Amino acid sequence: MPFTMHHHTNLRIPGPTPIPPEVLDVMSRQMINHRGSEYGAIQHEVLENLRHFFQTEQDVLLFTGSGTGGLEAAIVNTLSPGDRVLSVPMGVFGERFARIATAYGVDVRRLEVPWGSAAQPDTLEQALAEMHDCRAVLLTCNETSTGVMNDMAALIEVVRRLAPPPPLLLVDAVSALGAVDLPMDQLGIDVMITGSQKAWMAPPGITMLGVSSRAWEYHSRARLPHFYWDFTTQRNAQSKHMDAWTPAVTTMFALHRALALMCAEGRDNTFARHKRIAAYTRQRLRATGLSLFADPGSESPTVTSARVPEGIDGKALLRQAMDQYGVVLGDGQDKLAGRILRIGHMGWVTEPDIDDAVAAIEQSLASMGATVRPVSGTRAEQCLANARAE
Ligand SMILES: Cc1ncc(COP(=O)(O)O)c(C=O)c1O
Repeated sequence: MPFTMHHHTNLRIPGPTPIPPEVLDVMSRQMINHRGSEYGAIQHEVLENLRHFFQTEQDVLLFTGSGTGGLEAAIVNTLSPGDRVLSVPMGVFGERFARIATAYGVDVRRLEVPWGSAAQPDTLEQALAEMHDCRAVLLTCNETSTGVMNDMAALIEVVRRLAPPPPLLLVDAVSALGAVDLPMDQLGIDVMITGSQKAWMAPPGITMLGVSSRAWEYHSRARLPHFYWDFTTQRNAQSKHMDAWTPAVTTMFALHRALALMCAEGRDNTFARHKRIAAYTRQRLRATGLSLFADPGSESPTVTSARVPEGIDGKALLRQAMDQYGVVLGDGQDKLAGRILRIGHMGWVTEPDIDDAVAAIEQSLASMGATVRPVSGTRAEQCLANARAE
């Protein structure tokens, strides 16, 4: 039998992601004084290690909240009512970024990208050329809802070529950072946002933002209303090794330990592992006979999307994978609900987790009457070899 029954749950949604035992261990710790020296030391190490993964010498700020809070913080701290910005939505999360800005009275122009595709530098260039006085560009690095990653260097290059001063670059890197090589300073990103529950192997609760010196200049003139998310208040608190408000202490213990594990693996090794596992996931799904949703060449290294075969009820497929095999897959979101399935592979993940997930998909599809080509033995080894060669 190609598939052995697993009695644990294989959580393969694209966040929250599974947490390694070393990290789970520290989450049962007693509370500590969040304004004391022990917390200060933890915060110091977390910030140092985050700077290493953000590849920045500039500020990294922490806020208790989810990634959406981080997106909101980026907007309210840098913009003013009526500011004109260009958003480039390519799925649910790009839409959300645009909606947050709209909710605050920002003049949001849109460059629509078909779901499943990446933004193209030439269309971005054209959209910017047709806009006057663009204050900021809102980009999504990795669109988790479609499994597509943008070529950030190519897109940013276009923005930076604009007559000085180029617009501010606000980048949603919630499901990319920690897994993907995104050198913030080298690329010239002004605010880069992520969340603890994604590639960071920690539970939800903390959003982390890299903030450039140019973003601080914008911040000094920004007039959108805000209080909780104020960058200056948090920076002042962090300079005293504290948080402005009561932090998510348990998530902070976890993030501290997880970052130590990531540093022990090594930044480049972490990035390489994500690339390799994403390639393996694609190889396995294709070998099974599924068709991938993301355009070739734009596939995400942290989440893979595949079309649900014709005639199969996508929701029933996910239910079967969970109930029968303990594999929890991501559904499509919004207009893609029931039409695609998504496999998350960020953070604590290795190839056997993917074998387990793909086997559950194969078995579930077979039991629902779909034609599949279950992969095992030498064909699985071939997928592994192909992925390593990619
Ligand atoms: C790319 C992206 N942006 C933003 C978010 C929103 O983050 P949260 O759900 O933590 O609010 C997510 C969450 O999945 C995401 O993947």
